Amino acid sequence: MKPYSLFFTVFLFISCSHASTKKDEAISNNDSLNTIMEKYAPGLGEIMGGIQMHHAKLWYAGINDNWKLAQYEIDELKERFEQARMVETSRPEVKMIPMMYPAIDSINAAIGHKNLIQFKSGFQLLTASCNSCHSANNFEFNIITIPTAPPVSNQDFKVRR
Ligand code: HEC
Repeated sequence: MKPYSLFFTVFLFISCSHASTKKDEAISNNDSLNTIMEKYAPGLGEIMGGIQMHHAKLWYAGINDNWKLAQYEIDELKERFEQARMVETSRPEVKMIPMMYPAIDSINAAIGHKNLIQFKSGFQLLTASCNSCHSANNFEFNIITIPTAPPVSNQDFKVRR
């Protein structure tokens, strides 16, 4: 994700330029890039919180025929899963992320065809896939559903004409 990598670059810059001062205990010269990643990368639960938001926004974009926004949300969702695969290397669960690809592909196709029926069935598959991974990894108590209310009140999901 771009804001994340920007933050990370700035962070590295600051930490390198200050590493010799004793005050800066959070990070030391001896830390390898992997150690720094482990210390400061967002946790899997945090990344999942972002994924949950994109999942909900995707639904409201799709059911409002707002295909540009839907495309944006599915791309963001996919990006978060890729981020999880890259940074959460110590979590075996992330190996199962490719199980999401059929649902993501199906939603991408529905968006390309601006087809609401196809979108809804793709979204059902997406949601079922979230729950399959949670069940397979003893997080079955984290149940994802199709949202019944928009996740935020400060965003308009309808298309402006
Ligand atoms: C590859 C496996 C996997 C997939 C796929 C997956 N999750 Fe998760 N999810 C997890 C794991 C593991 C946790 C527990 C993470 C932790 O707290 O360390 C989790 C936790 C969560 C949480 C709890 C976070 C919180 O703070 O409340 C939410 C919400 C969530 N997932 C949403 C989703 C949604 C929505 C999808 C589908 C779009 C999804 N997940 C797909 C593995 C997965």
